[in-house]
Amino acid sequence: MCGIVGYVGSRPALPILVEGLRRLEYRGYDSAGVALVDETGVSVTKTAGRFHVLEQLLDANAAHTHGIGHTRWATHGAPTNINAHPHTDCSGRIAVIHNGIIENDRALRTYLEQQGVSFRSETDTEVLAQLIGKFYEGDLEQAVRRALRDVSGTYGIAVVCSDEPDVIVAARKGSPLIIGVGKGEHILASDAAAILAHTTQVVYVDDGEMAHITPDTLRLTTLDAIPVPQKVEEVEWSLEQIELAGYEHFMLKEIFEQPDALENCLRGRIDLRAGTVHLGGLEERSRELIRTKRIILTACGTAWHAALVGEYLFEELVRVPTETEYASEFRYRNPIIDDGTVVIAVSQSGETTDTQAALREAKQRGALVLGVVNVVGSTIARETDIGVYLHVGPEIGVASTKAFTGQVAVLALIACYLGRRKHMSPAAATQFITALSKIPEQMRGLLNVAAEAKEVAEKYVERNNWLYLGRGYDYPVALEGALKLKEISYIHAEGLPAAEMKHGPIALITEGMPVVCIATAGSQYEKILSNVSEVRSRGGSIVAIATEGDDKIGLLADHVLYVPDTLESLQPLLTVIPLQLIAYHAAVLRGCNVDKPRNLAKSVTVE
Ligand code: F6R
Repeated sequence: MCGIVGYVGSRPALPILVEGLRRLEYRGYDSAGVALVDETGVSVTKTAGRFHVLEQLLDANAAHTHGIGHTRWATHGAPTNINAHPHTDCSGRIAVIHNGIIENDRALRTYLEQQGVSFRSETDTEVLAQLIGKFYEGDLEQAVRRALRDVSGTYGIAVVCSDEPDVIVAARKGSPLIIGVGKGEHILASDAAAILAHTTQVVYVDDGEMAHITPDTLRLTTLDAIPVPQKVEEVEWSLEQIELAGYEHFMLKEIFEQPDALENCLRGRIDLRAGTVHLGGLEERSRELIRTKRIILTACGTAWHAALVGEYLFEELVRVPTETEYASEFRYRNPIIDDGTVVIAVSQSGETTDTQAALREAKQRGALVLGVVNVVGSTIARETDIGVYLHVGPEIGVASTKAFTGQVAVLALIACYLGRRKHMSPAAATQFITALSKIPEQMRGLLNVAAEAKEVAEKYVERNNWLYLGRGYDYPVALEGALKLKEISYIHAEGLPAAEMKHGPIALITEGMPVVCIATAGSQYEKILSNVSEVRSRGGSIVAIATEGDDKIGLLADHVLYVPDTLESLQPLLTVIPLQLIAYHAAVLRGCNVDKPRNLAKSVTVE
């Protein structure tokens, strides 16, 4: 995903833009640029490559108090200097930065070329800049509004013009924008991380809205110029939370933050004595929720794995048929939504395009839509009927870790909330939430497994193919362990329900192939032991994740990483931690960029 920062105020804009762009680096990008504005003109500096390349080109003494900056993740046109944002119109007075994709850019480009416009770049954003330039008659807001009428696609844009040197015009359709409100200044950004150093007071721009921003004024309207009341809200994240705090990587920091993050997630939500769960965000529609006949969980990637754990939890605790769907599949396959279907969208960022589209589809078909989201005020959080926030703090590392455990914990809370209102006895609910409340402390002890996880990574880091096996609640964790390893260390890994191995993948096992078997105590323990034996007899090297006190597994496995005992349904909250650590150390040993793996961005806002 690309990043947007804009500043209007009385301080020099450049350091604020630079700092903001650096804070957005975690979202991944391949080029960056800045436009500084005053009445003499728009001065653009941009380049392909990492941020430090741009920094070397910038004039640190620039005194402009108004500007915009962008980090680009190439979609239309290769990551080159020319294609980097900002883009200007022919006159050079107007500059635009843009997140998203203009779908009719070909038609618009042809039309503008026929009008005599000659293009410099291959981007859809330049098309937008030229279109705004064509409509500009002394009122930037009007010109942007008029141009957007001809545009289809998604956008979060910031536009400046040297004829109106203290104005930024922004607009949003499908790509987030937030405005930080300071004293005599406003900071526009696509992510709160770029604002936090200056203010925690923000206004969220909603889809279909435009903002006219000056140092002292902020005006929101719809694309059709209808005024929108604005609400200043407090961002709950702090600057410290988005800094490394002595850790080498954000991913490692976020793995180690999980006990605290989970405590925050559970705080105030469970009542051990009464055996009940309080989820204020669900109360409004709790009667409909309780009557639900079918639950569909929809998500992508790691969030999909958490949702799969949720499916098992809902069927066990709520006794309602539940399915987990990839959001990208759900949205296009004419899904059946009956009366009484609840659709739960699970997303860390709350901005993933496929998940957004799936929830819109579900809503349109009459489902009650519930969000399980981390980022407060994000699109999914705003568009769902009801929801529960994770409250695990900002996740900066591209590989999701604490969001996974937060998502599983929230789904466990929702399952218990509904189960208790349907048929779960107070004793069963108390047992469940008591076990859940112990998880953060158990995680604290478990993090000592880091040294053993590193040894496993060291031993097998040269092997290019790994398998991850699990059954029942351990199966989604096997998928998650394999995803973590491949996305940050580029080692090929596959996660499987352990019994599926004999239907094909067993053919892959050769002498010394690392096979990570999640073999925790519970209903499927004996079964997974048989799978472990099958791997062993074919020469695979077994890394077992087992429950403390298990004295059998050591006879079969080459390495055992122990996790504390808990209810079977809560084991994913613990078993995933050694797998996150193995992936982390493998990536470090391979010299990979752990927090910004190749080809990946933190939130996927394109299809
Ligand atoms: C993997 C990872 C991704 C995300 C997925 C959904 O580590 O981070 O697979 O889980 O892109 O993102 P959200 O949860 O923001 O919707």
